[in-house]
Amino acid sequence: MKSKKIREKFINYFGNKLKHTHMASSSLIPANDSSVLLTTAGMQPFKPYYLGELSVKKDFKNRNLTSIQKCFRTSDIDSVGDASHLTFFEMMGNFSIGGYFKEEAIKYAFEFLVKELKLNKKRLYATVFKGDDEVVKDFEAIKIWQNYLNQDKISEFGRKENWWGPPGKTGPCGPSSEIHYDLTGQSCSRGKDCQPNCECGRFVEIWNLVFTQYLKDAQGKFKDLPTKNIDTGMGLERLLMIMQKKSSVFQTDLFRPIIEEAKKDPQIEKLQSEIEKVKSLRIIADHIKACVFLIADGVQFSNKEEGYILRRIFRRLIDQFEGTNFSLEILVEKVIEIYNPYYPRLKEKKENILTLLRDETKTYDKILKTEVEKVFKKMGKNKKKSSEKKKPSSRKITAQEAFQLYSTYGLSPNLIRKKGYQFNEKEFGKMVEAHKKISRAGAEKKFGGVGDLGEKVTKQHTATHLLHQALREVLGDHVKQMGSDLKPERLRFDFSHSQKMTEQEKKEVEDKVNEIIEKDLKVTCEEMPYEKAVKSDALSFFKEKYPDLVKVYKVGDFSKEICAGPHVKKTSEIGHFKIKSEKSSSKGVRRIKAVLE
Ligand code: SER
Repeated sequence: MKSKKIREKFINYFGNKLKHTHMASSSLIPANDSSVLLTTAGMQPFKPYYLGELSVKKDFKNRNLTSIQKCFRTSDIDSVGDASHLTFFEMMGNFSIGGYFKEEAIKYAFEFLVKELKLNKKRLYATVFKGDDEVVKDFEAIKIWQNYLNQDKISEFGRKENWWGPPGKTGPCGPSSEIHYDLTGQSCSRGKDCQPNCECGRFVEIWNLVFTQYLKDAQGKFKDLPTKNIDTGMGLERLLMIMQKKSSVFQTDLFRPIIEEAKKDPQIEKLQSEIEKVKSLRIIADHIKACVFLIADGVQFSNKEEGYILRRIFRRLIDQFEGTNFSLEILVEKVIEIYNPYYPRLKEKKENILTLLRDETKTYDKILKTEVEKVFKKMGKNKKKSSEKKKPSSRKITAQEAFQLYSTYGLSPNLIRKKGYQFNEKEFGKMVEAHKKISRAGAEKKFGGVGDLGEKVTKQHTATHLLHQALREVLGDHVKQMGSDLKPERLRFDFSHSQKMTEQEKKEVEDKVNEIIEKDLKVTCEEMPYEKAVKSDALSFFKEKYPDLVKVYKVGDFSKEICAGPHVKKTSEIGHFKIKSEKSSSKGVRRIKAVLE
């Protein structure tokens, strides 16, 4: 069954048979919702109806709606490359605002899968909310599911799995019930415990039925919404993967033409291992799609918010080709071909999309060329100086030097080799592995995960919190963290501020950090809901990615920041803090490099 057929079946079933009003997909840039950067779910455009601010009855003469909504999720950027995670995807959903509730929502979903799509009932499992201190177990959903599935196929989970929303800080939310599909029919080594949400990959979540009956307010309290509602979401790509009996979403007709095209690129062909190749192709296919759709909806490259997201994924795409010389146009065309029947605007915007992508390619290319060439030149000079006896033309560089090119400018080892430089590959590989660990931790600090950092990096980690707060105290509250990178030899911190710092300001910041270090303040950590953390004025970084429950690290009364940690226990462990440089990083963003002595 092709994706076209599935779209039709879905719309026919909810639109014609069950008389829902079919709504066209809204833009990826939410129209009236400042709580999120991009549209992440099908219900988002209908938020005012859930909140009772607008009336569905009045606007559509129908309480029940259905749509196939374009969505983008930053939270999955780093997972792209596996079988089923995507940044851009389409969500098929049916919504009821004060119309039907759990009984019908479950029935409709089950019947669509089993009767319309003829999925094997034996492969379907359901999960429901098990209840906690604030909301009781979803007995109602369990009872309804028992009409369709054996009890052993209904399992209970907590907030993480079976609670949805709100997207952003406040808004509609509620317990959910997910339908999972059993891909293999075989339990893993966990035996009976191999249930939906097992990490072995046996199950894939296909449909999320949310019983949206609460409003989470700015104080973090749950109130009843004016009506009881339904919000469901099923990823088109995942359903397709199951219907087409493929082992990854990238093998379905929504991806194949892009992958086939990208595969022809000599840079990709050259990749050594099959695993590398598959992963690169998946990243390319997902990211080019996302870029095309984001630009078509009006996102432009920039260093902040959605423009930064676009920049990040496009540069990551370019990196897969190890250079900017790749067939951009044909990839864009493939995306447009696949989606033209449903999103004709893509074709109209093709030239605009290509222009923006080409310009960004040039910008990135320039960075690679100028910055990187400078380093090569410098390396040549150093060679002459340091080894008088050796021929200066020797094109051997140390693994450390190659690694520097890789870590500072993102230059791939292939590109370094292509420039004619040789280095100890094994040693280089080891450094890359060590670096990955650290940057993973850095990224997790930024986006809220758990990292396993070395002692040095842990100290730096706490030091960045102190630096962040000190900068705010000295320069003002407009200072916000824009990025950070921790390497054992130095820490780097990017922040929003538009002027060069004066010597006096730098000194004040440095003194402030050292004063706190010397005070030997205790570092404490408390886990709390994200909303509560934000409300308590804890500094945060990227609003979209934090999980519901976050850790808030406090350094005495000086600093408070949402972060995954780890951190030192007492500030005296950090040592002496010294700013090495303060420069512009991009428009409106300054970069400090500092060391701990
Ligand atoms: N809003 C829910 C989700 O995103 C269901 O559509 O999963």
